[in-house]
Amino acid sequence: MTARILDGKAVAARIRSTMADEVAALISKHGRAPGLAVILVGEDAASEVYVRNKKKACVDTGIESAAFSQTLPASTTQQHLLGLIAELNANPKVDGILVQMPLPAQIDSETVIEAIDPGKDVDGFHPYNVGRLAARIPSLRSCTPYGCMKLLEETGLDLHGQEVVIVGASNIVGRPMALELLLAGATVTVAHKFTRDLQAHIERADIVVAAAGKPGLVKGEWIKPGAVVIDVGINRLNDGTLTGDVGYAAAAERAGWITPVPGGVGPMTITMLLANTVQAFREHLGDTL
Ligand code: GUN
Repeated sequence: MTARILDGKAVAARIRSTMADEVAALISKHGRAPGLAVILVGEDAASEVYVRNKKKACVDTGIESAAFSQTLPASTTQQHLLGLIAELNANPKVDGILVQMPLPAQIDSETVIEAIDPGKDVDGFHPYNVGRLAARIPSLRSCTPYGCMKLLEETGLDLHGQEVVIVGASNIVGRPMALELLLAGATVTVAHKFTRDLQAHIERADIVVAAAGKPGLVKGEWIKPGAVVIDVGINRLNDGTLTGDVGYAAAAERAGWITPVPGGVGPMTITMLLANTVQAFREHLGDTL
C-alpha cells in the first residue's frame, strides 16, 4: 500500500480562503476587524519565524494584529508582561491574546497563561479551556490538536472505536489531543517517556499521532497496514532539513494516510489560531453561528 497524503497546506488554504470571506462580512457588519495580539519575548530564532508567520496569516485573512502586537526584550520582567496582558484583557478591540512560548527563564509560563482572559485565550492553553474540553463542552480549543482533528476529518474515517496511539504527553499537543479524540469516540492511548514497548502500542494502532519532537522515534516499519499517521514533529536535522517523528519513507509504504513534514500539521496550527480568533470575536459581539 502507498499512503494517500494528508495535505495540510491545501486544507489550510481552503479553510483560510473561506475565513477571509467570513471576516470581510464581519467587518462590514460590526465596523471593526477581529483583533489578535501576538506577544513575543526575547529572540528565540524559531519563535521569531512562528510569530512572523502568524502575523502574516492575520494580514492575509483580514484580522488586525499589527496594532496590538509587541516584541519585548529578553530581559522583560514577569510583572511587566502581566501588566501588558491586563491591558490587553481590558481592551475591547482585542479578541485574542497569544504569548509565544517558550518564555525566558525569569517568567513562569503557567502564571502567564492563567493571566489571560479565558475568552481571549486563542491558543486554548488556559486551564479553563482545557477543562472545558475535558468536560465535553469545548470552547476555545488548542490549535495543533484542533488542526489534527480537521486533518482526520479529511480521511472520512469514522473515529468511533478507532485505536489511537498518541506519542508524547505535552500540555500543548499530547494531552489536549487525547481529549479531542476521546470526545470523538476513539479509544485513546497516550505513550510517553516512561512507556514500555512503544513498538507494541504502535503496531496495533489504527491512528498514530506522533508529537514527541524526536526524529525517527516511531519507525515506519511499525505502522499497521492502512493506518493513519499524523506527524506533529518538526525537527531540524544538522543538514538543515525538516523531518517529523515518524520514519516517513517506510511509513508511507504501509499507511493508508500520512501527513508530510513540512506541509502537514504545521499550516493547520496557524489556521486554527485564526479560526479561534474569529470565534472569540463572534462571542465578544454576541454574533455566534
Ligand atoms: N510555541 C510552540 N507552539 C506554540 C503555540 O502553538 N502557541 C504558542 N503561544 N507558543 C508556541
